[in-house]
Formats: sequence, structure tokens, C-alpha cells
Amino acid sequence: MSILITGGAGYIGSHTCLCLIEKGYDVVVIDNLDNASDESLKRVTRLTGKEIPFYEEDVRNTDKVIEIIGKHNVDSVIHFAGLKAVGESVAKPLMYYENNLVSTVHLAEAMEKTGVKKLIFSSSATVYSQNNIVPLTEEGNLGCTNPYGWTKLMNEQILRDAAKAHPDWSIVLLRYFNPVGAHESGTIGEDPSGTPNNLMPYVSQTAVGRRDHLTVYGDDYDTHDGTGVRDYIHVMDLAMGHVAAVEYASRFNGCDAINLGTGVGYSVLDMVKAFEKANGLKIPYVIGPRRPGDIATVYSNPEKAARLLGWKAERTLEDMCRDQWNWQKNNPNGYR
Ligand code: NAD
Ligand code: UFG
Repeated sequence: MSILITGGAGYIGSHTCLCLIEKGYDVVVIDNLDNASDESLKRVTRLTGKEIPFYEEDVRNTDKVIEIIGKHNVDSVIHFAGLKAVGESVAKPLMYYENNLVSTVHLAEAMEKTGVKKLIFSSSATVYSQNNIVPLTEEGNLGCTNPYGWTKLMNEQILRDAAKAHPDWSIVLLRYFNPVGAHESGTIGEDPSGTPNNLMPYVSQTAVGRRDHLTVYGDDYDTHDGTGVRDYIHVMDLAMGHVAAVEYASRFNGCDAINLGTGVGYSVLDMVKAFEKANGLKIPYVIGPRRPGDIATVYSNPEKAARLLGWKAERTLEDMCRDQWNWQKNNPNGYR
């Protein structure tokens, strides 16, 4: 039996492959390498000593997915594959809807045709609308402000409907908060193409000299220091959340959404200071205007994950900052 990992060469996928292999699972990866390098998987092999069957394929290619499921005796699927840049999704909405929605529909069709019944889907805290109170529970109001977010919410609906039509299916919608950090070896990590949109890759690329300075997007929010507050979660904790979700999918039928976060919010300046302290570095920054679409405070209520998955995030803010830098300093230009 193996687990099919779509988008497994990417940031969260590669760390999840590593955790699954260490837990004794067999994995098989499909990735079209649109936003990744297969070097990540070679490094997972180096860390685990286990070859990963890898197909440079598009998930939308249903016939190929069916063939791979049969060949590798796939029992469950973790669906990471998707485009994820919010700004790009505003500029190219059709590309986002086409890639992110069609891939899920075709994957579910491949599951129908092959009898695979368990699916873990990468959703996001972005599906929560702005009129919620924090901490966010899974019952929070839903709604999005950009096409990327809508693809996540629409995918959730597609999968809920698929689960309703197949009462023996188990679908876990994991709503990630803000993944950061890297495997503690510094061998695999996040390798954004172009200028990073997210805070921590920007901070570590500034530390390594690829960027002049960080721009803090606004210091006039209603937070303890005026900068935006988010729920940063170590990518290895997030990866372990997927192992727990795979196990949960064997115990229940239906479709359920679960937050993966720490339940703690840190501001942009908290993160900068923690990164400086953990690594003995100085991060030059300037305060800029707010980024359109950002809100003051987002953090999770992680109780449902603890209750249903028996999982909670264990790594500290210091671990996140140390591992982020360890990866960046060992790989100043990522996998290139
Ligand atoms: P990533 O870009 O590193 O990984 C996604 C992978 O999917 C890439 O390797 C890409 O090449 C591949 N891919 C894209 N479209 C594909 C297709 N049609 N067929 C085959 N492969 C395809 O991103 P990540 O940070 O690892 O995120 C994984 C998932 O988690 C994504 O769905 C993302 O939207 C979601 N997510 C990420 C975050 C975050 O902050 N990183 C937060 C919430 C949710
Ligand atoms: N920020 C800066 N400067 C930067 C980058 C970010 O000040 O150069 C600030 C933002 O304004 C925000 C915080 O750092 O206050 C975090 O920003 P990120 O872009 O790292 O993360 P977001 O919370 O905006 O969004 C992320 C993912 C989304 C996902 C969302 C919820 O990018 O895809 O988390 O999970 F949907």
C-alpha cells in the first residue's frame, strides 16, 4: 500500500514525504515541477535512505494518475498540488481556477475509477472571512478576497459533495495557518521562485544578503506593536499533522475540515526579533504601508486537531527561526 502525494516535490510536500517515510509509509509523488525542483526529493532520499518513486506529471492528466495508482497500489492520497501565490491569482484568475479546481476534480475522478477512498486536501486559513473573531475555529464564517482563496474554498465544496456521494470516502480538509522553517538538517526547505511574498523567506533571504531589507507592511494595526499577527507553524509540525490525518482517515467516513496551527499569534516584529535572537543576526527593515487585503490578526483554535487527530504543534518559535536560517545559510540560492 502506498500514499500518493501530489505536489510532493514542493515545500510542505517534501517535508511530509520525509515524515511519512520515517513512519514506515511508502509514498509515490506526482509533481509537474511548476514551482519545485526534484532535488528536494533526492535530498529526502539522502535523509531517509529510501528511493521515492517520482512522476513528473500533471495531476490533471487523469489517465496517468489512474495508471500510477494501479502500479503502486495506492490506498490514500495527499493533494498538495496547486498554485499558491495570492497576487498572481489576482492577475491570472483563470489560470488559478483551471489548475487548482480541475486538478482536484480529475484526482477525485481517478479515485472513483480506482476505488481509492481516502484523501487529505491542503486547504488554508485563507478560507475564513475577515469578519470572524480569533482564535478561528472550524465553524468560523467562510469567504475569500482573492481567486487563490476561492480555489481553496471551492475545492472544499467540491470535496464535500464528492464525500456525500460516496459515503465510504474519508476526506480531511486541512486548513493550514502560516508554515515556516525547514527540516532541522537544513537539507530541505522552502525555495520560493522570484521575490518571496511571505514574511519568513523574505527575512531569511535578507539575512543571507539576497535582499537589502525587509519592508514591514504597516505598523498601525490594532495589535500589541501595530504590526500584523499570524499563527506561524513549523513545517515539520505541519508535516506530522498530515501523518496524523492519514491515520484519522482510516477511522472515519465523511468530510471534515481541521485547522493546523499552533493557537499562538506573533507579530511581524516579534518574528524579526525572534529570528535575530535565535541566530545572532540583524535584519534591516523599514516600515511601509499596509499590504492590500491583509488583516490585523489571524490565529487558530487548534483544539479540533488535538481531539480528532491526537496532534498538536510541538516546535517553538526559536526552532522555527533557527531552522529557517539553517536551511537558508546552507542553501543561499535554494535548490539551484
Ligand atoms: P509549493 O508550491 O511548494 O508546492 C506545490 C507543488 O504543486 C509544487 O511543487 C508544484 O510544482 C506542484 N503543482 C502545482 N500544480 C500542479 C499540477 N497541476 N500537477 C502537478 N503538480 C502541480 O507549495 P507549498 O507551500 O508546499 O503548498 C502546498 C499546498 O498547501 C498548496 O496547495 C498550497 O496552496 C497549500 N497551502 C500553502 C500554504 C503556505 O503558506 N505555504 C498555506 C496554506 C495552504
Ligand atoms: N509581511 C511583511 N513583509 C513582507 C511579507 C509579509 O510585513 O515582506 C507581513 C504581512 O503583512 C503579514 C505577515 O507578514 O502581516 C505574514 O504575511 P505572509 O505573506 O507571510 O502570510 P499571510 O498570512 O499573508 O498569508 C499566508 C499565505 C496564504 C495563506 C495564508 C493563510 O501566503 O497563502 O497565510 O494560511 F492563505
